[in-house]
Amino acid sequence: MSQKLEIPTNADRATTYAELLPQLKALLSGENDLVANMANTAAAIHAGLGFHWVGFYLIKGEELVLGPFQGPIACTRIGKGKGVCGTAWAEARTMVVEDVELFPGHIACSTLSRSEVVVPMLDNSGIVIGVFDVDSDKVGDFDSTDKDALENIVEVLMQVSDA
Ligand code: SME
Repeated sequence: MSQKLEIPTNADRATTYAELLPQLKALLSGENDLVANMANTAAAIHAGLGFHWVGFYLIKGEELVLGPFQGPIACTRIGKGKGVCGTAWAEARTMVVEDVELFPGHIACSTLSRSEVVVPMLDNSGIVIGVFDVDSDKVGDFDSTDKDALENIVEVLMQVSDA
């Protein structure tokens, strides 16, 4: 299957998300394996938007364990309620953190990460099974445009994949 992403250059972020979403839907719709789809989602968002780190953690027992990602090497295990990822899991809601240094308990996998968005992944019973974490090397790099778009992306991922 041909999997070429047409990513606009010099477009604003809302336009990039708007053009990426249908392409991502097409890319994922031919595959129902969650790990394969997480891997291509991380690659597409990393390539399309140029964020510092884009990836997934899946719940295994009492912890989040590192899954497919693009970017620098990362922490492998995060406890429930710990850091931004563990908080998104515990509270089952998207976290948008303007400045990670001001977030109590932030886990600095990379000192270059300065702001982040973490979206919980819900299965079809509404149970959190993991999180999608997008990190920027700029403070205040995320707003409601990112939150909405990344939530849509996680929704598509969870709809097409067996979880
Ligand atoms: N910063 C995250 C940890 C994961 S990494 O940044 C890849 C957190 O506080 O949960």
